[in-house]
Amino acid sequence: MSQDPIRIVTLQAHILAEQARYPEAGGTLSWILSALSISAKIIADKVRRARLENVLGSVGRENVQGEAQQKLDVLANDVLLATLGGREGVAIVASEENEEPVILREEASGERRYCVLFDPLDGSSNLDVCGAVGTIFSILAYDAGVGLARDSLLQPGARQVAAGYVLYGSSTVFVLSIGHGVDLFVLDPSVGAFMRVERNLRIPAGNKVYSVNEGNRRSFPDGYRRYLDWAQNNGYSSRYTGAMVADVHRILLKGGVFLYPPTQKAPEGKLRLMYEANPLAMIIERAGGKALCAPGERLLDIHPKAIHQRTPVILGSAGEVDDVVRLIDGV
Ligand code: AHG
Ligand code: MN
Ligand code: MN
Repeated sequence: MSQDPIRIVTLQAHILAEQARYPEAGGTLSWILSALSISAKIIADKVRRARLENVLGSVGRENVQGEAQQKLDVLANDVLLATLGGREGVAIVASEENEEPVILREEASGERRYCVLFDPLDGSSNLDVCGAVGTIFSILAYDAGVGLARDSLLQPGARQVAAGYVLYGSSTVFVLSIGHGVDLFVLDPSVGAFMRVERNLRIPAGNKVYSVNEGNRRSFPDGYRRYLDWAQNNGYSSRYTGAMVADVHRILLKGGVFLYPPTQKAPEGKLRLMYEANPLAMIIERAGGKALCAPGERLLDIHPKAIHQRTPVILGSAGEVDDVVRLIDGV
């Protein structure tokens, strides 16, 4: 009797196979994803060697968000700009660390071009204590026909052509969605390639875990406080690392809900819509979960007005998000 051989599928092979399903993307999108995969390997290496090479700590200035920039924020940003900058298919890149988007190629071309948005290092305040950090990315189609090139960036998250993240944790994982499901890859450091370990990931429908910075509780709107009271009366546990990418990855695999509500200090929420919330919302939705910015308001439907716009976030297992909404609505 013949047996199916065990298949080894690298991220590269996966992307090429997926590309065949989206002929309009040509090889251009694959080249961009391959630049992201190379960046991820370089950044993973820098994160692992940070203490040895004395690149921990802050650079002594703030980014456009008014947050202290870590040396590795800058290094990771430079790596992404250097790898993506060389790809013909990239029209614009926009980063948490750059106030203005970088317009690389704004003229129309025969091949489709794309905008790539990213948070080069998410959770970078975890670096000094060897905590998990990540890279989050979002890819949108570029339209050379719009007035100003940068206006091409201002599309709702639902239009993302591809989205994903890299988590530099106890292993380095790459989570990607191109057009449909969500797939998970792990970096095999001895081979230097991301290997596919799971196809079409599905988020568990429920799990009694919430992830929120409870230190801000007093300044949350009433509805969120009501939810936390309800959750605590119902045997919930709390998990929060301070890196959204790590918290959302745990929720994707184990279920639960991630919240970043509006606070007095950040009435619009703290998280950035276009390169933090949108890509993670797409991953969660495509895995069968829900992602909202407020009860009844889908995060991916927000029409952005600015690249660094912020949004409140409620995302996770469908049943858990429903409970949050029910308690916020007071029913
Ligand atoms: P970044 O390191 O890219 O600035 O992002 C940090 C974000 C997010 O990852 C995390 O969930 C959140 O900030 C933590 O904020 P608090 O410290 O306010 O909880
Ligand atoms: Mn971030
Ligand atoms: Mn960051």
